[in-house]
Parts: sequence; C-alpha cells; structure tokens
Amino acid sequence: MSAETAPRAPRSRVFYIVLILCVAVITAGATALLLNIFERKTEAKNQFVRVVDVGEDDTDPEKWGKNWPAQYDAYKRTALPTKTRFGGHGGNEAMPEEKIERDPWLKRMFLGYAFSIDYRDRRGHAYMLADQEATQRLTKPQSGSCLHCHGSVMPLYRKLGNGDPLKGLEETYKMTYQETNKLLHDAGQAHPVSCVDCHDPESMALRVTRPGFIKGIQALAASEAPTPAMSSIETWRKGSRAKPYDPNVDASRNEMRSFVCGQCHVEYYCSTKMPLTFPWGKGLKADEIEATWDETKFVDGSTFVDYTHKETGAPILKAQHPEFELWSQGIHARSGVSCADCHMPYMREGASKVSDHWVRSPLLNVNRACQTCHRASEGEMLARVDVIQQRNYDLMQRGGTAVVALIDQIVGAKTAGASPDQLAEALTMQRKAQWRLDFIAAENSMGFHAPQEAARILGEAIDYARQGQIAVLKAVPGAAPAPAAPAPGSQAAPGSAPASGAAPASAP
Ligand code: HEC
Ligand code: HEC
Ligand code: HEC
Ligand code: HEC
Ligand code: HEC
Repeated sequence: MSAETAPRAPRSRVFYIVLILCVAVITAGATALLLNIFERKTEAKNQFVRVVDVGEDDTDPEKWGKNWPAQYDAYKRTALPTKTRFGGHGGNEAMPEEKIERDPWLKRMFLGYAFSIDYRDRRGHAYMLADQEATQRLTKPQSGSCLHCHGSVMPLYRKLGNGDPLKGLEETYKMTYQETNKLLHDAGQAHPVSCVDCHDPESMALRVTRPGFIKGIQALAASEAPTPAMSSIETWRKGSRAKPYDPNVDASRNEMRSFVCGQCHVEYYCSTKMPLTFPWGKGLKADEIEATWDETKFVDGSTFVDYTHKETGAPILKAQHPEFELWSQGIHARSGVSCADCHMPYMREGASKVSDHWVRSPLLNVNRACQTCHRASEGEMLARVDVIQQRNYDLMQRGGTAVVALIDQIVGAKTAGASPDQLAEALTMQRKAQWRLDFIAAENSMGFHAPQEAARILGEAIDYARQGQIAVLKAVPGAAPAPAAPAPGSQAAPGSAPASGAAPASAP
C-alpha cells in the first residue's frame, strides 16, 4: 500500500476557511493589479493633448512634436553618435566607415557594381536622406525609387499617382534619383522617415504606408510559405481571400510593431528596369528569395540580374539589409518578440510609459531592451550576444575567403583560355555563394536576429564556393588551383571596440 492511498488525517474546518480566505485575498490583489496595469496602459495611451492638428501631408516631425514631445525628443536623438562592437556607426562627423575597405572580399564581390565604389556603415535615422544624397553610388544612374526608404515620400507618391500611392511609386523607377529628389525638396518634404510614415494622424495607431511593403507582404500571404511568426497571414489564408491581405486591416498590433520596420529593412530590387520589388512571393528565406529572383523578368523581358561580375562575368544577385527576413526565421520572431520590443523599448516618462523613439542598437539599452524578458545580468546578456556575433563573424570571414578563392580560380582558368561554356557551372556556383554570403554580410545584426539560420546560410555559401572551384578543376583539367589562402581563425572585427560591458570575444 503506497502512502497516497493511506487514509488521511481529517483536516480541521478552520484550515479550509483560512485557505478560502487566502485565495480570495490573492485573487482580489491580482485583479486590482491587473486593473491598475490596464488603467496605466490606457492612461499612457490617452495622456496626450493635441496642441496642433496633424494630417497626411504633415511630413515635418517638428509639428507632431508639439503634441508628442517625448516621442519627438527621442526621435531627434537618432542624430547622436552611437557605437557598439559590430553595430551602426552613428557618428555626427563626416561619414561612417567604409565596409568595403574593412572587408576587402566585399569589394571584390561587388566589382562591376556601384557598391564597389562606396558602401558604408549605417547610422541613425536622422541621417538617412543626407547619407543617400551624399553616396558616391549616385555617380552611376540611380532610380527615383531609392527615396521609398530614405525620405517621407507619401505626399509625393499620391501626387505622382493622382491619389494612388502605388501608382506614384511605380512612376519613380523611370525617373532619375536627382529629378525625384528635387521634387521632394521643392515640396518642402525632404525629411527622413517621419511620424506620418508609421502613424495614422487621426488615431495615432500604427500603420504601414510604403507601397513596396504592402505589395510584398501581399505576395507573401498569397504564397504557400509557412509564416509561423505572422499568424494573421495564416488566418487570412484560411478565410475567403476575397480581398488581398491588408496589413493595416488584418495584422495584429504586435505584428505592426515589426511591419513598420519591414517597410525598409528588407531585401529589394530598386533600379531602372522595373518598379521597386520586395521579392517575397515564395517566402522570406534566403533560398526562397533566390528562387523568386531566378524566375523574375524585367519589364523588357530580359532575365533578372543585379550586375555582371566584372572579372568573371557571373550574373550576380546583390542582397540588401534583410533584417525583417532574417528576424522572421529566428526564435524571437517565433515567440512574438517584435522589432520595437528590442529597438524601441518602453521607458518611463513622468507618470506614463512611452516607446523609446531613439531607434538604435539594443546593446546600448540592455536593461529596457532585453531584461524585461530575460533575467540574466546585463553583462551576461551582452556576453551571450557577443558569442553569437563572434561565431557569425568568423564563419562570414571564412565565406569571404572561399568566395575570393573561387573568383581567383575562375579568373585563372579564363586567362588560361577557358570558354564561358566550360565555366558555366562555376559561374552558377559563384552566384549562389555570393548571394548567401552577401545576405548575411548585408544583414545588420551580425547574425543575432536568427543565429542558426545565419549559420546555415553561411555554411551553404562556403559549400557553393568550394563546389565552384571543383567545377573549374573538372571543366578545365590542369587549371591551377587558386593559391590557398590561410583560413581566418577567430578574430576581432578590425576597427571596432567591444560594446561597453561586453565580455571579451570568445569563440568555441
Ligand atoms: C530580440 C531583440 C531584437 C529583435 C526582436 C530585433 N532586433 Fe535588431 N538587433 C538586435 C541586436 C542585439 C542587434 C545587434 C546590435 C549591435 O551589434 O550593436 C540588432 C541589430 C539591428 C540592426 C543594426 C543596428 C546597428 O546599430 O547597426 C538593425 C538595423 C536592426 N537590428 C533592425 C531590426 C529590425 C528591422 C527588426 C525586426 C524585423 C529587428 N531588428 C528585431 C536585437 C533585436
Ligand atoms: C523609411 C524607411 C525606414 C523605416 C520605416 C525604418 N528604418 Fe531603420 N533605417 C533606415 C535607413 C535608411 C537607415 C540608415 C540611415 C543612414 O545610415 O544614414 C536606418 C538605420 C537603422 C538603424 C541603425 C541605427 C544606428 O544608430 O546605427 C536601426 C537600429 C534601425 N534603422 C532600426 C529600425 C527599426 C527597429 C525600425 C522600425 C521601428 C526602423 N528602423 C524603421 C530606414 C528605415
Ligand atoms: C527598401 C528600402 C530601401 C531602398 C529602396 C533603398 N534603401 Fe538605402 N538603405 C535602406 C536601409 C534600411 C539602410 C540601412 C541599413 C544598411 O545600411 O544596411 C540603407 C542604407 C543606405 C545607405 C547608407 C549605407 C551605405 O550603404 O553606404 C546609403 C548610402 C543608401 N542606403 C543609398 C540608397 C540608394 C542609392 C538607393 C537606391 C538605389 C537606396 N538606398 C534604396 C533601405 C533602402
Ligand atoms: C518607424 C516607425 C515610427 C516612426 C517614424 C514614429 N513612430 Fe511613434 N511609434 C512607433 C511604434 C512601433 C510605437 C509603439 C506602438 C504600439 O505598440 O502600439 C509608437 C508609439 C507612438 C506613440 C504612442 C505612445 C508610445 O510612446 O508608445 C506616440 C504618441 C508616437 N509613437 C508618436 C510619434 C511621433 C510624434 C513621431 C515622430 C516624431 C513618431 N511617433 C514616429 C513607430 C514609429
Ligand atoms: C519580449 C520578450 C523578449 C525580449 C524583449 C528579448 N527576448 Fe530574448 N528571448 C525571448 C524568448 C521568448 C526566447 C526564446 C527562448 C525561450 O522560449 O525561453 C528568447 C531567446 C533568446 C536567446 C537564445 C537565442 C537562441 O537562438 O536560442 C538569446 C541569446 C536572447 N534571447 C537574447 C536577447 C537579447 C540580447 C535581447 C535584447 C536585445 C532579448 N533577448 C530581448 C524573449 C525576449
């Protein structure tokens, strides 16, 4: 007979009464606490007074700042210099550091493209328009669509599209950058991303405005790619589908806290051969996006390509800052943690809670950005991030070495007289390897947004580069292998200092 089935000693009635009372008191306490939290939330939401009216054409954030000074003050701080070990530069001096000088393999990969001329570290939102206007990449013809993500362009799009912003955007790829930029300045709307781009001026609710994002997310919704991090898409798919997925109607508030950033922090095509495109029709993973580009045709019917590699002739895909895409593959997205949770955490402002509009690296703000969910100390959180970033950095350098070795080998075979036909497979491998390496190099979290996915992509990059070398050796027997470069070991990123408080770099 076990202890459980042994007859129990009867408990006194007093015990039960005390127990019931305790439960009652705890329940009442919890209810009061919840009510209090709820009231504070409502209070935080409603506690602004409108001093001035703002509308759809008010792109100047200063005007909005009269109603919402706390958010505006923080927004202005995006002009302040910030720096972490791998994070954005944010200096208020002349220009951020050149990425292509720091990592020479980047420059080699981009030969034949404007990115080999000038490609720098990003910095705060306050600089987005000025940095675009200053880039040497504009010495090559660029399309007016560049402004989609660098200026407060919605009034201009409505004007160009006779009220329809999507049509307006689609006009701009045929216009030059300089022409479109002048229209923005002439209209007095030359501001970086502004309040009206993320907020409905009537209700202040979050919304997305950028036609590129709306078209892209609609293509994603219409696809069959699983979207575990975006449940509203899965819900929409189960419905009648009478109307296309509309993030401003169908998405949850939590999803909107990432979608507003996904308007710009994404992979895209933006040049003169077709309208701005977010390539999400087969899903958000690097290989799904590659498959979309592989099938894409330009308006003139020719096959999609970003550029032809100057030394090898390979048709190359250039990746651009896929933060939204990589985040969507990570554990945080899957757990419902949004961009704003880490990059715009709540802060106390007098009696109320506001979202920190000083959008920046969360490593400068671990207390509010991470420790609301994670119990580890600040030093420990920084150390965890550093381990992830160091591993990603090391694997990425290995990828750079492998791609450069492939380029050397193709160039060697070409010089020895190999024909394009003989090199076809190697060129395909170069395209695949560069796409993957660039996808992670152009992504700005140094692997943090989805560490395992980043490692998977880099592993494939290295494999394709080495397969490309084998293809050269097979096609051109006797071709001299590229001189073996020493594989990089664990090393610090040149020119950067660890984030304050970060643990020393450690690699496995
Ligand atoms: C769980 C927290 C978390 C979430 C969620 C998150 N990020 Fe990040 N993000 C980070 C960390 C940590 C870094 C690395 C910062 C560093 O190296 O200084 C980073 C880096 C970045 C950077 C480069 C920052 C810099 O200072 O250079 C950008 C841009 C960025 N994230 C955008 C996004 C976007 C867009 C989303 C949503 C699609 C997102 N992040 C979601 C934590 C997060
Ligand atoms: C309209 C386009 C646009 C939107 C919307 C946008 N960003 Fe950015 N973001 C940029 C551009 C462009 C830069 C680089 C500016 C530069 O280098 O001059 C940037 C830079 C950043 C940086 C680097 C800051 C630094 O100090 O180095 C972070 C972090 C970031 N954005 C996060 C976010 C998050 C989070 C959201 C959503 C809440 C968001 N962004 C929304 C375009 C946008
Ligand atoms: C879909 C949105 C989007 C479009 C379109 C876009 N950008 Fe950006 N751009 C960004 C974001 C986000 C950043 C910050 C992240 C980074 O630097 O990787 C950025 C950073 C930059 C920077 C600063 C860092 C660097 O690369 O030197 C320059 C300059 C720039 N963009 C120029 C351009 C030009 C020129 C075009 C048109 C060919 C363009 N952008 C089109 C979103 C966009
Ligand atoms: C890149 C997008 C973006 C831009 C630009 C932006 N905000 Fe926000 N804002 C957010 C996000 C995200 C939240 C959090 C909303 C939520 O969770 O419902 C927010 C919240 C708010 C709130 C609600 C209270 C709070 O702080 O959570 C106010 C008011 C606000 N913003 C004002 C402004 C003003 C004023 C500007 C211009 C100076 C501005 N915002 C620019 C993204 C943005
Ligand atoms: C809103 C809550 C929330 C915030 C804010 C948040 N995290 Fe997380 N984090 C999670 C959840 C949930 C997981 C998944 C693990 C789990 O379920 O316990 C996670 C996982 C992680 C992991 C393990 C990742 C992996 O791939 O296994 C790391 C590292 C991490 N977080 C670091 C950070 C850092 C650094 C910040 C701040 C920049 C941060 N987190 C902000 C909720 C959060």
